[in-house]
Amino acid sequence: MADTPDANEAPAVGITGQVSAMSFRYDIPDVHDIDVYEQHAGYDGLRKALTMEPSEIVDVVKASGLRGRGGAGFPTGLKWSFVAQDSGKPIYIVCNADEGEPGTFKDRPLMEYDPHQLVEGMIVGGLAINAVQGYIYLRGEYAFSGRRLAKAIREAYAKGYLGADVMGSGKRFDLVLHRAAGAYICGEETALLDSLEGRRGQPRLRPPFPAAHGLYGCPTTVNNVESIAAVPFLLNHGVDWWRQWGTEKSSGPKLVCISGEVNAPGNYEVAMGTPISEMIELAGGMLEGRELKFWCPGGSSTPMLPASAAGTPYTFEAIQEAGSLLGTGALMIYSDQTCVVDAVGRFTEFYEHESCGKCTPCREGSYWLSQIYQRIEAGMGRDEDLELLEDLCDNIFGRVFCALGDGMTSPIVSSLKFFRDEYEQHLRQGRCPLGTTEPRRDIEVTEFTSGGGYTPDHPRLPATPATPAVAGQA
Ligand SMILES: Cc1cc2nc3c(=O)[nH]c(=O)nc-3n(C[C@H](O)[C@H](O)[C@H](O)COP(=O)(O)O)c2cc1C
Ligand code: SF4
Repeated sequence: MADTPDANEAPAVGITGQVSAMSFRYDIPDVHDIDVYEQHAGYDGLRKALTMEPSEIVDVVKASGLRGRGGAGFPTGLKWSFVAQDSGKPIYIVCNADEGEPGTFKDRPLMEYDPHQLVEGMIVGGLAINAVQGYIYLRGEYAFSGRRLAKAIREAYAKGYLGADVMGSGKRFDLVLHRAAGAYICGEETALLDSLEGRRGQPRLRPPFPAAHGLYGCPTTVNNVESIAAVPFLLNHGVDWWRQWGTEKSSGPKLVCISGEVNAPGNYEVAMGTPISEMIELAGGMLEGRELKFWCPGGSSTPMLPASAAGTPYTFEAIQEAGSLLGTGALMIYSDQTCVVDAVGRFTEFYEHESCGKCTPCREGSYWLSQIYQRIEAGMGRDEDLELLEDLCDNIFGRVFCALGDGMTSPIVSSLKFFRDEYEQHLRQGRCPLGTTEPRRDIEVTEFTSGGGYTPDHPRLPATPATPAVAGQA
């Protein structure tokens, strides 16, 4: 990743594989310093934006086809055009840098290597929607990103890119870095806004949507780091440059983080439309002796797909047609040596832990699901457990307040669809058939039935020893 992107060298539409567009500065030493950043086209997008009307900036973003990179893929330009301009209240732009979805780490390098790219994007986004104030809501655990961003913001103020008179234009834009406490639910945009206002982070009822009634009841847009950081590039290089990659519905380059059983997990930038199999090769191929078994296209809350779907191009529409979602761009790769029940059980434990508790199906259901996974993996599953899992998922999906609850059912339902036989083997053999996990006899297993019944001991297996008492607890 070294060369500056050049609009004159644009390859034809349909290119796949690795590209160096939004990440082109990552390898430039000290580019996090503002002086170095300025030597590499830094703040050129802002200079361009200051010559344009706000609506013109929004039109460029719309024409580019840029879709939100935070998970839902909503068109960024359209979202900005919804921000109420006539309320008489201040307008806010908020960057969602919470990055809590399991498997997702594609915003972090952008903030650490090239933090001014995000600062510049925030100012340009602010100009586009007439916001005078922006916030970056940063994941609590990202301490180093926080230090880099704080320094970048200080430097941008010192050089007049931020403040009461942005580059002598007479326009004001202030930017605040807000370090969050580290809760997955606070990545949901309305929970994020509540948290930013100093309240417990729980999703808000919609409508009203943030575009009309967001931060402090004022018109607000919430966008992902990558969505915002893309805009200065769009202004610098133009819509054709952006659209040289991808398809009509999924344009541009995409930052992706590839994790799991590959030789070189990490961050990559690819052309939208690159097939999954090519992305696996980019990440060094599968670990020796392992074959692809399943993959999650965009984090653990996107339905898993089997190896047979590895030819799918990485676009919103193709992944959706294959039965999943592109999500955050976190491609998680699993091999034939991974037990699907164990993997999904771990995801479920995460959602159980992160459920904010606001609505019953998610709060209670995540606990029950987690318990069932623990007993199946411990070799104590019952024949009816698979139907019970499906029944619980049916009662969660579409009946909860936010997408966290829906998302937790995705890996369960999809794994039951593609790997039901592996679940059944767990039940028949009373252990993990892959032998990758030891039976967990140390856990306290509670038995739930679809009728809500409860019995402390399992009827078929020897009594389960209770969890060893922790010193100091009764
Ligand atoms: C539980 C949950 C966690 C989320 N976490 C993030 C996150 O960390 N970063 C993010 O950009 N979007 C996250 N989202 C999506 C946001 O609600 C929102 O759609 C996104 O920030 C919009 O930005 P975009 O339009 O640029 O994609 C999350 C959604 C849910 C339901
Ligand atoms: S679905 Fe879960 S995370 Fe979302 S509001 Fe309900 S309890 Fe909270």
